[in-house]
Amino acid sequence: MAVTDEERDIIHQILELHAGETTHMLPEVMDNPVTKYTDPEQLRQEIDILFRNFPIVVAHVSELAEVGDFLTHDDTGVPILVTRADDGGVKAFLNVCRHRGARVENEPCGTARRFTCPYHSWTYDLEGQLRGMPQPVGFDTMDRSEHGLVQLPAFERFGLIWVVPSPQEQAVDIDAWLAPLKDQLDGLDLGGHVIFEKWALHKDMSWRLALEGFHESYHFCSAHRETACSNYLDNQSLWQNYRPHVRHSVPLPKILELRDTPEDDWTFRPNFMTQNYVFPANFVQVMTDHVYIHTIIPTGQGTCAFHCMMLVPETPENDKAARYWQANYDVVRVVFDEDFAIGEGIQKGFESGANEHFTFGTYECGLHFGQKAIDDALAGEITI
Ligand code: FES
Ligand SMILES: [Fe+2]
Repeated sequence: MAVTDEERDIIHQILELHAGETTHMLPEVMDNPVTKYTDPEQLRQEIDILFRNFPIVVAHVSELAEVGDFLTHDDTGVPILVTRADDGGVKAFLNVCRHRGARVENEPCGTARRFTCPYHSWTYDLEGQLRGMPQPVGFDTMDRSEHGLVQLPAFERFGLIWVVPSPQEQAVDIDAWLAPLKDQLDGLDLGGHVIFEKWALHKDMSWRLALEGFHESYHFCSAHRETACSNYLDNQSLWQNYRPHVRHSVPLPKILELRDTPEDDWTFRPNFMTQNYVFPANFVQVMTDHVYIHTIIPTGQGTCAFHCMMLVPETPENDKAARYWQANYDVVRVVFDEDFAIGEGIQKGFESGANEHFTFGTYECGLHFGQKAIDDALAGEITI
């Protein structure tokens, strides 16, 4: 596939920086106060704003392929029910009964035409409408149309299902929100991919520490010395700051072959891993032939959930293909475990008081951009 103008620019910049024996750098280091990781009030604001008012990825479209397919999602602290409704669209609701608040659906996923609350059997349809109840005479004076499940903004874009975990007064313009990433993500055809593996981990570390591991590649040849290090040019990343999203391009060594290749023959994807930060907590991590989707969610002070899907272009047709993807999966689990072990160690070190701030180096650009985006959103300067 031909490269886009932006991709050509990224390649040019990386080749120039490499030739000059330097890398993408910002003018100044950035001091980031450790309280941003440890202060309960900071976390409360992050949850109230970042994890209530912005979209997070909850599923791949294949998980809600047919009318009636549903799933539940709880790690944001909001009980969420997502359905494929009769009109074929995706809907999301608070998974909370409008009678007296019981959890309506308890299964993690399944297929249903109706959701029946276990407490007194009020029944809701795939659109969240209240459809019935036992002994309705006791609720004759209540307007049923006002007692449907509370709807959350939900969208299907780039083969992924996105939910804003809190009801919004204003309509959410998801296309404007995702516009900076549209060309790149459309080109991946993630909707045509299949899930090879999907997993969730609960870690004893601030969600921010898990997030930060994807914002820079400076750590690859230390933390991933035996795994990811040799796959990429050392500390040669380049970032596009789409504020609040960030495109982080990590070149493979073979990009250097493009120096001797006519521009018209350049390709992008075979030469890069791209870690797209989709604010506030999602990553679309594009490998040369498959894709990881991560969502990182705070579950408490110093704890987080890490949701990940490995998407591959097609169902493996034979054992050889299955073994190939399995080998990729096995490696990525090792790499992520290397990051998490360090993150949990950082978390334990907070109480030592050794650091009042962390120092983001001039070439850890993604950390600067990501932190500023969070700061700006908490200040109300970034809204959707
Ligand atoms: S709380 Fe759901 S039916 Fe009563
Ligand atoms: Fe890492």
